[in-house]
Amino acid sequence: MKKIILTSLTIFSVCLSIIAQDITLPAPDKKGGKPLMQALNERQTTRSFTDESLTPQQLSDLLWAAFGINRADQKKRTAPSAMNYQEIDVYVAMPTGLYQYLGESHTLKLINNKDLRKTTGTQAYVNNAALNLVYVADMGKAGKKEGVKIDDSDLFMSYSDAAFIAQNVYLYCASANLGCVVRGSIPKEKLAAEMGLKSNQYIILAQTVGFPKK
Ligand SMILES: Cc1cc2nc3c(=O)[nH]c(=O)nc-3n(C[C@H](O)[C@H](O)[C@H](O)COP(=O)(O)O)c2cc1C
Repeated sequence: MKKIILTSLTIFSVCLSIIAQDITLPAPDKKGGKPLMQALNERQTTRSFTDESLTPQQLSDLLWAAFGINRADQKKRTAPSAMNYQEIDVYVAMPTGLYQYLGESHTLKLINNKDLRKTTGTQAYVNNAALNLVYVADMGKAGKKEGVKIDDSDLFMSYSDAAFIAQNVYLYCASANLGCVVRGSIPKEKLAAEMGLKSNQYIILAQTVGFPKK
């Protein structure tokens, strides 16, 4: 009997560790990192990665640098956005699942438990890098409900807003000795379907992040 209970408990805890769930991130380290001029000097694109995961602290710092809240009283962020719409949602594709970064709570909300890294791009390195960020413009936050026509001039601001976030990520990676590449090569239709996006949510850019292969 004791053996059965012990075996059941072991199976239960193994299942728990496999089932993906929301992730509470540690507080970001806002004092660390290289001086800005040094990070700018080291900013570069990397296209070859090991399969090592980021530590929870690195993940926290990366996402806060990308588009975290830096003025809590005004709910404003580390990157600017046109009209302060803050319409870019940062999704994170990791082996344990697809998550959405929520800046206000500094948490990762589980969207689904599929490893979508491969589906975020067309180049081989996306498969094994630690994670892929996907920048999605939620035009609902810019006053465009589902069904309302959206044209290039509506999306123009979102392309700019996402690019600021991508540069923040480049600078964080340079500062933390991580590698990254911002990408336009994305199978958008397929990825949008896998992510379960609505018709007024547009994939703008993606960015692969991980440990550079030496
Ligand atoms: C909007 C944009 C889209 C890009 N798309 C890709 C891409 O799909 N795949 C890729 O390997 N690199 C992509 N890059 C990275 C550029 O190729 C890279 O920035 C350029 O070669 C300069 O290298 P550096 O970033 O090291 O200065 C993209 C860069 C930008 C700004």
